[in-house]
Amino acid sequence: MTSRTTSSCLIFLLALLLPLAAVAVPRRHRFPSLQLAPVNSSEPPTTFFEVDRPIQPPRGSVGPCSALLLSDSFGYTYGRPPATAAYVPPECLAAGGSLALAVLEWSADCRGRQFDRIFGVWLSGAELLRSCTAEPRPNGILWSVSRDVTRYAALLSEPGEVAVYLGNIVDSTYTGVYHANLTLHLYFHPTTPSPPPPPPHADLILPISRSLPLNDGQWFAIQDSTDAQSKKLAIPSNTYRAVLEVFVSFHSSDEFWYTNPPNEYIEANNLSSVPGNGAFREVIVKVDDNVVGAVWPFTVIYTGGVNPLLWRPITGIGSFNLPTYDIDITPFLGKLMDGKEHNFGFAVTNALDMWYIDANLHLWLDHKSKKTVGSLISYDAASSANVDSEFSGLDGRFVTSASRHVSATGWVESSHGKVMTTFYQRFSYRNSNVYSKNGSEQVVNQTIDAKSGVSTTNGAVLLSEEVHQVFPLYLFSGTSDEVGDEYSLVSAVELGINEKRVSGAEQGFSYSSLRNAQSARGSMRVKGNLVTSGSGENHQVYKYVGTDGCYSRDVSSKNYTVVFDRSDDSCLKGSQVKGSRFPSS
Ligand SMILES: *[C@@H]1O[C@H](CO)[C@@H](O)[C@H](O)[C@H]1NC(C)=O
Ligand SMILES: *[C@@H]1O[C@H](CO)[C@@H](O)[C@H](O)[C@H]1NC(C)=O
Ligand SMILES: *[C@@H]1O[C@H](CO)[C@@H](O)[C@H](O)[C@H]1NC(C)=O
Ligand SMILES: *[C@@H]1O[C@H](CO)[C@@H](O)[C@H](O)[C@H]1NC(C)=O
Ligand SMILES: *[C@@H]1O[C@H](CO)[C@@H](O)[C@H](O)[C@H]1NC(C)=O
Ligand SMILES: *[C@@H]1O[C@H](CO)[C@@H](O)[C@H](O)[C@H]1NC(C)=O
Repeated sequence: MTSRTTSSCLIFLLALLLPLAAVAVPRRHRFPSLQLAPVNSSEPPTTFFEVDRPIQPPRGSVGPCSALLLSDSFGYTYGRPPATAAYVPPECLAAGGSLALAVLEWSADCRGRQFDRIFGVWLSGAELLRSCTAEPRPNGILWSVSRDVTRYAALLSEPGEVAVYLGNIVDSTYTGVYHANLTLHLYFHPTTPSPPPPPPHADLILPISRSLPLNDGQWFAIQDSTDAQSKKLAIPSNTYRAVLEVFVSFHSSDEFWYTNPPNEYIEANNLSSVPGNGAFREVIVKVDDNVVGAVWPFTVIYTGGVNPLLWRPITGIGSFNLPTYDIDITPFLGKLMDGKEHNFGFAVTNALDMWYIDANLHLWLDHKSKKTVGSLISYDAASSANVDSEFSGLDGRFVTSASRHVSATGWVESSHGKVMTTFYQRFSYRNSNVYSKNGSEQVVNQTIDAKSGVSTTNGAVLLSEEVHQVFPLYLFSGTSDEVGDEYSLVSAVELGINEKRVSGAEQGFSYSSLRNAQSARGSMRVKGNLVTSGSGENHQVYKYVGTDGCYSRDVSSKNYTVVFDRSDDSCLKGSQVKGSRFPSS
């Protein structure tokens, strides 16, 4: 633990004690909540929210049956053990009904001034939620986050332990204490006429995380590009399918990794306090010596990022419910079912301090046999990266591009027959980072394009799934009117997730398309690291169309006020895809 006693937050606070460099760039992009005009304490608290499709219980289901899992306050919790509570499956679940939907709800409030803090929720070591807190105001804030946790049905039905780590620091300036309740809501299929077949959730979930007791979260902390963290575990010998679900968040020197310049630029300009290693990051997931997959993460901007007023009360995409990434490792099962322990590990290309990573291994077991057999047939993992770099003094232009391909095919023989599985990922990335006006302006324009798919066949195609995600990002930041430790900062952000999913299986065909985009701009005056005045606005358009329904929302905010908010869950004529044929993509 001695090498891990500092965190993103503490490193940041220490850095603030150092005198600010005289140069105008690059500025830090992270700020605590702002303390503007004196506050009228009878004003109601502000409710923050992340725009997402509401979670709907299946038609005809019964519920919810709700259980409070944990209730706690997070004051000076940094570097302390997580808050924990014994988990006992709620009676309604233990009664043996057929689970239709499980939702984990985090609801919290806070008052005062505070940084945005990352936190994690674990059940028996498996992470269920990675999230960032909202930043408080003197008159108080409230928010809640709900995540569909039905896929963890196997864990929810066993006694265990809930752990929440939210590393907060409270002092006379940063006064905000977070109070939170964690609740589980369960819905069941009706018992009559007859329950539908059980959904294909894993039979067993093995955490690939650190075990308690710990004075930290159960995530692994990755500190640099040579740091690889791993856990050894043996998997049951009757496994026939395996999927790794990876949780990732980036902090401190790498919180804005996509804005980091190359080290040559930093060295030439003596910018020793500026984080470097360029703008490309890749999370590599290994089982023993094989790269089984990669994560090219969505650029989540936390609630204090860039200009805190951009995210009030509409928070940044993914910031309250960080995306997770699935890697199907079924083709490798033949190598893993020897009853021995195998090494599951994570590393981050070009990483700076610090990345929090862990994973849940979802396993499907053959109830009709004690042993399945399998073999890896083919495997390929190739990558390339390139940087075009030109600069003179503080002005410069850096264009980074990268690509990766992973694919693996293997078979597993179980009571379901001899099934061949192919899993692939194809990534491409381009980042342009331009400094101008003697380094006082920075423009970053980045696109991550990630395709992945899995198909299974026993001669006939059993399942075929494809996901295509595109993450566009544009960030402008301009510094001016610098006097002593005060300066003005103008910012603009365009951030989005575009996603298409197509799946064909024995149970039928499904399709969904999501376009989720935020466009935000603002300006502020900063003294030291405190925002003394400013304004910000955000406009978000969310549009989901799928075989399981539609949802759209168009919402805009200025400073703390929602200007307009329109939503619609009807599938307009022609917008719903009927489930008979594959649409053109
Ligand atoms: C550019 O910025 C550097 C560092 O702040 C300063 O020393 C230099 O004089 C500036 N150059 C111009 C042309 O303003
Ligand atoms: C404080 O806010 C309350 C409720 O919004 C309002 O009725 C009251 O007039 C305000 N007081 C002052 C001093 O602004
Ligand atoms: C937590 O639950 C308690 C008891 O129901 C309630 O009084 C409190 O307001 C809740 N806090 C939050 C932040 O939801
Ligand atoms: C950086 O520091 C070195 C050594 O102190 C000095 O020689 C050089 O001129 C500095 N370069 C810039 C751009 O300030
Ligand atoms: C970002 O770069 C892409 C090409 O990579 C370009 O099409 C797009 O217009 C750029 N966006 C901005 C806002 O400059
Ligand atoms: C936002 O608030 C700031 C200061 O509180 C104010 O100067 C600015 O005009 C406000 N902007 C908007 C768009 O309301």
